[in-house]
Amino acid sequence: MTVTDQATGGATQPAELRRQGRVGVITLNAAPVNALGARLRAAIRARIEEAEADPEIGAVVLTGAGRLFSAGADIAEFDGAADGPDLGELIDRVEDTEKPVVAAIHGQALGGGLELALACHHRLATPSAKLGLPEVKLGLVPGAGGTQRLPRLVGPRIAAEMIVTGKTVGAKAAQAAGLLDAVTAEDGLIADAVTFAEALLAEGKPIRRTRERDERLLEARDESGLFDAVRADNAKLFRGFEAPQACLDCVRAATDLPFAEGLAFERDTFRRLMRGAQSIAQRHVFFAEREVARIPDLPADTPTRPIHRVGIVGAGLMGGGIAMNFLNAGIPVTIVEAAPEALERGLGLIRKNYEASAKKGRLRPEDVTTRMALLTDSLDFEALAACDLVIEAVYENRDLKRSIFERLDRIAKPGAILATNTSFLDVDAIAAVTSRPQDVIGLHFFSPANVMRLLEVVRAEKTAPDVVATAMRLARTIGKIAVQVGVCFGFVGNRLLDQRQREADRLILDGALPRDVDRVLQGFGLPIGPFAMMDLVGLDLGWSREASKGESVRDILCERDRRGQKTGAGFYDYDESRRATPSEEAEAIIREVAQRRGITQRTVSDQEILERCLYPMVNEGAKILAEGKAWRASDIDVVWINGFGWPVYTGGPMHWGDAVGLPTIVESLRRLEAEHGPDFKPTPLLERLAAEGKSFSEFDRERSAKRG
Ligand code: 3HC
Repeated sequence: MTVTDQATGGATQPAELRRQGRVGVITLNAAPVNALGARLRAAIRARIEEAEADPEIGAVVLTGAGRLFSAGADIAEFDGAADGPDLGELIDRVEDTEKPVVAAIHGQALGGGLELALACHHRLATPSAKLGLPEVKLGLVPGAGGTQRLPRLVGPRIAAEMIVTGKTVGAKAAQAAGLLDAVTAEDGLIADAVTFAEALLAEGKPIRRTRERDERLLEARDESGLFDAVRADNAKLFRGFEAPQACLDCVRAATDLPFAEGLAFERDTFRRLMRGAQSIAQRHVFFAEREVARIPDLPADTPTRPIHRVGIVGAGLMGGGIAMNFLNAGIPVTIVEAAPEALERGLGLIRKNYEASAKKGRLRPEDVTTRMALLTDSLDFEALAACDLVIEAVYENRDLKRSIFERLDRIAKPGAILATNTSFLDVDAIAAVTSRPQDVIGLHFFSPANVMRLLEVVRAEKTAPDVVATAMRLARTIGKIAVQVGVCFGFVGNRLLDQRQREADRLILDGALPRDVDRVLQGFGLPIGPFAMMDLVGLDLGWSREASKGESVRDILCERDRRGQKTGAGFYDYDESRRATPSEEAEAIIREVAQRRGITQRTVSDQEILERCLYPMVNEGAKILAEGKAWRASDIDVVWINGFGWPVYTGGPMHWGDAVGLPTIVESLRRLEAEHGPDFKPTPLLERLAAEGKSFSEFDRERSAKRG
């Protein structure tokens, strides 16, 4: 029986104390990730007090059960008042312990989990362990002493870098930096930690508390410009985000202030950020990205189909990018093209991409060889017969795609999943040309497919549940975040994009300049404005001279060979290094089209640009929900954050809509409807939620409660 069992009569505790000789081993045991919620905090404090009071125990090892040490504070607690000891107080209490405490880390020690380890008097970890303070990704600073203790162990530069980026470090690097005392054997963590603790007892040296160690701070005190350099090195992370600067300020406080004052500064900063809109939005995204994997009518035990080989039709940019995802995950791929030159080009591009990654040190040279060896190419469709999943990735043409599916139906083995990578087309209609619509699904990758995290899993009317479950599982295997969507024009992502594009196109006729629209939307936090984006993609995508009526701005730009960056001109002019400058010619074309349509151009305010571009997206999101094409509002947020770079600190379009206030949005849409027509008509769901004083997150909660 453990010491804890004796105290509790055998009931399982979130933290248990077991004695091994003179060492008390406290094990955190709160599945799945040992998040430091109220119960676990209370249990750790109790076990520490028991160990301290037990005369048989001379030293303590603190470790975690399950797959990791601890994922940190319980994020789900942040929105309510938490019970029991505050995490910061608990961690201070651990540091105060009169007997040496050794943290024994495996898996990961993150956030509050690492802060707990930092307050232990020694730290050991397995070779595969990872350590980090990822709070910044939740719009926070570490709030339980991390910004004060980490610089004391590793120096302010490494600490600032780790805290600002939120990246984890491996055990070896952590040891080199001074964060770990030693790296143990992979399988002998507890035994090694107990031996380490026994050695401490034998030595009988006084306890060294992290808060008292300031030699590393002194070392760096004169390094002027250190914080500016960290900011400059990570400039991208600071754009629009509040937390990274707050992280730097806290580490600076560690170097400038006595420990207690630095700690108080950190705690105030943490509390301020936690109540702020950015962290609320980023926490929403954290949970939304996990919730999205749960499909209400697909029980967790839905069977999946084994996928040993993936076939890809089309070796273009998209097909090649899709292939790389599977090769990266060690899954063999057969890629088929109609023409030898196209196949050659496609294979060359894949190899070039890998070689570029190897050059940058992101891949080992031998990985390039291993991955390319998993790739089989063919000009013969029959080669797809051996595949368990075939993804069609040819250009967006309904008849072409349907003819490919007719062929796949004849060739593919029974039970193979047949997927189309369409962006807009009707997956039901594609499925209907086969004799096995239950095996057909849409897998909408975003370009570049080997980089973008989003995958829209388009569930058609007859798609079998195990096919959906397989797609969701496979997405995880290849590191994508999958969102199940229903069949409709543009699915979720492009359907919202269409709304924004329509208004952007109208705004420039009304008098806004392309650069105004781009500036406002970029200022909002989107990575690129709609006109710069069109120039980047190419204005002639889906355009042809024969079909052009010469009526729209785009028609005329294309006719004049202003087809975007690739022709050196589009909505903007471009120099040799593709730097954009405003274009007199494009602006004259816009004025001309406006005049022809009888539009009197006027000054358009930034606020009008923002409202006209973004409110219809929220409205369309509500329509999608009402039609059941997405399960949750938060799924729509996940799509736009991962597929289009919507700023995570506003939580996605639907969360942002909630933050603006649905009544405000409805009121503006009604006004815009009166001025500009029915495209702005608020959808009934949006009107209802606004009238009832409800938000999309309440809608999600109610819907999920109804589904039980
Ligand atoms: N709090 C609450 N729940 C958490 C959690 C946390 N810190 N970390 C993970 N979870 C939950 C997830 O929501 C998920 O729940 P679900 O199964 O109900 O959806 C479950 O644990 C498993 O998580 P994942 O699906 O993410 O599992 P993975 O194996 O893919 O990843 C992980 C594990 C790397 C630990 C990842 O969950 C993660 O990055 N967690 C967050 C780590 C973090 O940000 N820590 C800092 C917290 S803030 C803090 O500590 C403040 C302090 O400074 C005061």
